[in-house]
Amino acid sequence: MKLRMIVLLSLPVLFLGCAPGRLAGRPPGAPIAAEPAPDPAPSPAAVPSPAPQAARIDFATQIRPLLQEKCSPCHFAGGRMYDRLPFDREETIRTLGKALFTRLRDPVDQELMRTFLEQPADGLGGPARP
Ligand code: HEC
Repeated sequence: MKLRMIVLLSLPVLFLGCAPGRLAGRPPGAPIAAEPAPDPAPSPAAVPSPAPQAARIDFATQIRPLLQEKCSPCHFAGGRMYDRLPFDREETIRTLGKALFTRLRDPVDQELMRTFLEQPADGLGGPARP
């Protein structure tokens, strides 16, 4: 009796899961090609790494130009802070970490920087380990 109930209850679920196109009212003769292509990307659950590779932020092309725009001239070559805190070096940025946010105020910049800081440093190889 119990098993029968479960089977009966699960039937509508299966139907809904398998036939969304029909429920949406597509006529039987409609071309299949009109359906949206299946997403080729693997589902997030299939990716063990916490940081998706596609979102990887590059110091030389994304972080350095941003700092150069906002923190010049002081933290770049010729500036008075270049000897102590050179911002064209990834090590400086990683050492300062979130201390940068006292001066890097734009939330968009902070988000980019935060993602960058969570990545493993370039050259260490391999994805981040928790
Ligand atoms: C006008 C020159 C100048 C500019 C532009 C400048 N800085 Fe600095 N920065 C300094 C000086 C001088 C110091 C050391 C004295 C101090 O802490 O104020 C310093 C120190 C720092 C420190 C270490 C001290 C702390 O507060 O923790 C950080 C981090 C920092 N700067 C970040 C930045 C960032 C990020 C930018 C760009 C958004 C920036 N600075 C732009 C002159 C500058």
